[in-house]
Amino acid sequence: MFVKVTILVKVIVFLVFFVQCDCAPKKKYSELKKCDIGQLADEIASYDAVVKDIMDYVFSGPFKNQTYDELAKFVDKFGARPSGSDVLEQSIDYMIKLTRDEDINDIVTEELEVPEWIRGEEQITMLEPRKKNIQLLGLGKSVSTPEEGITAEVIVVSNFEELAATPDNVVKGKIVLFDPVFTTYSETVVHRSQGAARAAEKGAVASLVRSITPFSINSPHTGSQSYEENITKIPTAAITLEDSDLIRRMYNRGEKVVLNIKMFSELNNKTSRNTLIDLKGRELPEKLVIVSGHIDSWDVGQGAMDDGGGMFISWAAPVILKRLNLRPKRTIRTIFWTAEELGLIGAKAYEEKHRNESHNINFIMESDEGTFAPLGLEVAGNQEARCIIAEILKLFESINASTLVEDDSPGSDIAVIINTGVPGASLYNANEKYFWFHHTEGDTMNVEDPKELDLGAAFWTAVAYIIADLSIDIPR
Ligand SMILES: *[C@@H]1O[C@H](CO)[C@@H](O)[C@H](O)[C@H]1NC(C)=O
Ligand SMILES: [Zn+2]
Repeated sequence: MFVKVTILVKVIVFLVFFVQCDCAPKKKYSELKKCDIGQLADEIASYDAVVKDIMDYVFSGPFKNQTYDELAKFVDKFGARPSGSDVLEQSIDYMIKLTRDEDINDIVTEELEVPEWIRGEEQITMLEPRKKNIQLLGLGKSVSTPEEGITAEVIVVSNFEELAATPDNVVKGKIVLFDPVFTTYSETVVHRSQGAARAAEKGAVASLVRSITPFSINSPHTGSQSYEENITKIPTAAITLEDSDLIRRMYNRGEKVVLNIKMFSELNNKTSRNTLIDLKGRELPEKLVIVSGHIDSWDVGQGAMDDGGGMFISWAAPVILKRLNLRPKRTIRTIFWTAEELGLIGAKAYEEKHRNESHNINFIMESDEGTFAPLGLEVAGNQEARCIIAEILKLFESINASTLVEDDSPGSDIAVIINTGVPGASLYNANEKYFWFHHTEGDTMNVEDPKELDLGAAFWTAVAYIIADLSIDIPR
């Protein structure tokens, strides 16, 4: 997942609202507001048997553990799949073959230009007040330091306001360390994504950020960042919570902290592909219900959680439906986005290329915040659309996945399309630990769980099927 996470805020607002209204927390949306969808409620209820068939097939039938097993084979074979790399392209070819082996052959790829940022040697050494190695991960597209590195004193600020309040002559020639305390991802991540530009504007020679995570065992978390036009590009990296807090304590004591930063990298342009897999609708094939995840990952970790799991439940949807001979009225399109991590590049290219047909996207879904136990959906759309989705979610009470969270801009990649007015949703799941592993070496298969992936795959498949098969389009 890249930048767009408003969910935690939304969930908190959601819970606070219920506390204030004196009802139990976690009530369902359908009970919250008056939803009257008339006879459509009966139509939706009639899908109960199909939902049960899909669940049986996945929880205790031939598809049991399949999502996990296929994800593990994929992750073990390819490992990290950074934007622009050959291994990413090989992993795309592999997914196409895996899908063709299921006799699903409506597959196209769409080429686009993507950045390739290759991390080289990285090292930070604290020189004063004592010698210490500082763990780091350079941030995406960071420029290199000179060969001998950058040696400078550190100033520590918690946020952009503190930096702005610091005189330019104090910042000039220094390394700025941003050490915001993690509240929510969306609130904290700006210090990573814009820190280098803000620090350089004030004359800093490099910038560091306390990793954007609530938990650490001395693990740095990388992520994307953006330089800005006419502002000097300075090297920028994330350091661990532990080292950041150490430097903060020293700084607060008035000790002079001096670091030597060496970071080397390379930036190239490459070609990659979005992958589109269609299970053609039997009545309205031009109308789409899209399920999606991104196939690229960071260069650290294995991209099992971010976003292997999301990609594989989206792969499972047409496969399960094909195997069960369930062909909905509208087309189910699975998309594996490319180059999400370096700035939603694949999704932006898709939105541009398909802008003239966006009225055909009935609903768009994405899983890119973990595939832990599903709890429901985070839904963007008008009141009527949300009422319909809330009614569909009632069919998932048996697996505790009936919660609708209102979010006007859910997801990472799909937000690009939802922001043009298309209704859609991202997977709401029990992902309290997501940011523990996010963008680190710890993003491995050990984060994934076969049962949770089965729950996610069945939920994702059944929701997409019902929306694609309803007698009406999701209103917008
Ligand atoms: C950058 O500098 C150029 C030349 O001075 C100017 O034309 C342009 O508007 C500047 N861009 C921004 C974003 O300030
Ligand atoms: Zn992701």
